[in-house]
Amino acid sequence: MTRLDTRSVHAGRDDLTALGVHVPPIDLSTTYPLPGVEAGGASYDELALGNGPDGGSLVYQRLWNPTVARLEEALAELEHCDGAVAFGSGMAALTACLLATVAAGKPHVVAVRPLYGGSDHLLSTGLLGTSVSWATPSGVAAAIRPDTGLVLVETPANPTVELVDIAQVVRQAGPEVPVLVDNTFATPVLQQPVDHGATLVLHSATKYLGGHGDVMGGLVAGTTEWVARLRQVRAVTGGLLHPLAAYELHRGLQTLPVRVRAQQSVASKVAGWLCDHPAVDKVFYPGLPECDPLGLVGRQQAGPGAVLAFTTKEAARVAASLRLITHAVSLGGVDTLIQHPAGLTHRLVAAEARPDQDLLRLSVGLEDAEDLISDLAQALERA
Ligand SMILES: Cc1ncc(COP(=O)(O)O)c(C=O)c1O
Repeated sequence: MTRLDTRSVHAGRDDLTALGVHVPPIDLSTTYPLPGVEAGGASYDELALGNGPDGGSLVYQRLWNPTVARLEEALAELEHCDGAVAFGSGMAALTACLLATVAAGKPHVVAVRPLYGGSDHLLSTGLLGTSVSWATPSGVAAAIRPDTGLVLVETPANPTVELVDIAQVVRQAGPEVPVLVDNTFATPVLQQPVDHGATLVLHSATKYLGGHGDVMGGLVAGTTEWVARLRQVRAVTGGLLHPLAAYELHRGLQTLPVRVRAQQSVASKVAGWLCDHPAVDKVFYPGLPECDPLGLVGRQQAGPGAVLAFTTKEAARVAASLRLITHAVSLGGVDTLIQHPAGLTHRLVAAEARPDQDLLRLSVGLEDAEDLISDLAQALERA
């Protein structure tokens, strides 16, 4: 097996030469010719069970799409998983995991805060029939119940980039309860959660996988059994990824390692500069020793990543005073974005768990670090 950088370029494309093409074909068919009622019906049954087409008719786009399947195969390979299932957004991907958990008769979820505000809100409301117990990373074992069907963690977590020891959480969850790791911030370039015992890996593909702020999507990678369950949920509920979006995300994977490492290098410089600024109270970045007390960078995660957060008085004014850096939600793209988690991405989180009002989250892009630092300097000065 070739290495990650090579697989990022080639995964899901191994048969292109045999097909006589250089880039993946985009299949926009919503429906497919049927060989006959009986054979078509047999294909329908297989696809509805979450199995692959195995040479039969693809029947209908909600059941299978070859362009989407190529992206799924590529991400599964990068995440060291049997397979993956793509959805229209990261939230649709999480929804499918929760619905599959409820369908299995184990609707209780143990979740470690902080999480992305939307994920926190979905669990807190119980909208999908789940109930939640919030736990610290070391309190997961105590929170597990007979009806627990899933443990959910993010590492690095949104918005404070706190790291969670995946193996420690997996040990506490025990052999029966799957651990789902949201790997959106780390990407498979820095971390493969299944190598530390996780069962499922979730991505908001909207972020680093796409990388250019122009496509939404979500993916869950996991075991063959989970992939079938999630495909079933997708087929029934219809939270599909469009083939054009799948094409863009598949292309995004080709430059993922280069982007993540370059953005990480810029982020390290910006984090170091912020640490020394008198108007900045605290910097949160996994590359700072005080933010990684368990020594997970190097052991679990190959590098600190490119998202950081910091606290400063007048946070809202700082965000509004930036000229080069865009004041906008989302992250993981080639351009630097800043946002105020308490007021935006995490505004629906319960007050006791909501981020500090002084906190700003910075997703560092590919600009020159000096230019980002100049912009931050003038904004901190003006505020
Ligand atoms: C860590 C994390 N997970 C999931 C999501 C949800 O993804 P999407 O916005 O693609 O639905 C986000 C969105 O910001 C996120 O940051």
